Amino acid sequence: MKEKIEQILGEVKAFNAESKDALEAFRITYLSKKGVIPALFADFKNVAPELRKEMGMKLNELKNAVQEKVEEQLQKFESQHGSEADFDMSMPANEMKGARHPLSIVRRDINEIFEHLGFTIADGPEVEDDFHVFSALNFPPDHPARDMQDTFFIHKAPDVLLRTHTSSIQVRVMEQGKLPIRIIAPGRVFRNEAISARAHCIFHQIEGLYIDENVSFADLKQTLYHFVQEFFGEGTKVRFRPSYFPFTETSAEMDISCNICGGKGCNICKHTGWVEILGCGMCDPNILISSGIDPEKYTGFAFGMGVERIAMLKYQINDLRLFFENDLRFLEQFELA
Ligand code: DAH
Repeated sequence: MKEKIEQILGEVKAFNAESKDALEAFRITYLSKKGVIPALFADFKNVAPELRKEMGMKLNELKNAVQEKVEEQLQKFESQHGSEADFDMSMPANEMKGARHPLSIVRRDINEIFEHLGFTIADGPEVEDDFHVFSALNFPPDHPARDMQDTFFIHKAPDVLLRTHTSSIQVRVMEQGKLPIRIIAPGRVFRNEAISARAHCIFHQIEGLYIDENVSFADLKQTLYHFVQEFFGEGTKVRFRPSYFPFTETSAEMDISCNICGGKGCNICKHTGWVEILGCGMCDPNILISSGIDPEKYTGFAFGMGVERIAMLKYQINDLRLFFENDLRFLEQFELA
């Protein structure tokens, strides 16, 4: 028996598993209930009493050797897993699948055009108060102009509401008291409107404000004309129609020649050849005064446009709801991130 154990011990020590399966087979051969080692232990009762001590030690040595071998080889496989052997740092990364949201693309492109003209980006809170959204912009209390924008109120008193337009950021910037001002302010706005293909209760606007000495309506027209040529392409025509906003005097709305039919007339422009894209005007002296700016010295212009509207024209999208549904079939059509 002694020779047999010595021989098996030699085999065990020399064993080197080629795979995890081979190691498992080795373990079963030696250690399972019907394996080699339990069989040797079963034979132990036939060993002569004077040899039992030595044999017992030998048997235990063999059993330990098998167990150690199994553990050592198991570690070998585990440390190989995820080690440099199968981790190639030069492998290309998984393909990135994201696309930019069309509203993000349009907002970025509009921002860039104005940034090139020296405008900087300004920001303000979405949760506002009456003063910044209405009063400071020359909406008198209980004036019907407030009905133009169906407001979501959070509290009546003290008044907390969701801004209905980004014009509130004009007020926030003027309050800081640093002149001249040349900002554009993109942001989300909220109105209590029924959701349809043409209206939504959440949408985006970009506000512009320029206040300095000697700012004129000609500056306003030239700035917006430049924007239209850059964004919609050279040769796009513009026209200004008189309008009304409480915070501008003179007020206007600006149309561009329909970029879909080139001005010939189509469904989008309702066969007029023109589409409205923004409201604008010269800052009413009252709003300068309420922000502590001297209207004798400074004049300014402001404008506000809807990002969804501009994106719909750019990409010929006819349903506003598509921007908010996160349908991948829609989103995947735009510029990859
Ligand atoms: N705040 C206006 C709206 O939401 C848009 C607007 C019109 C902004 C004229 C202006 C402006 O700055 O001068 O309908």
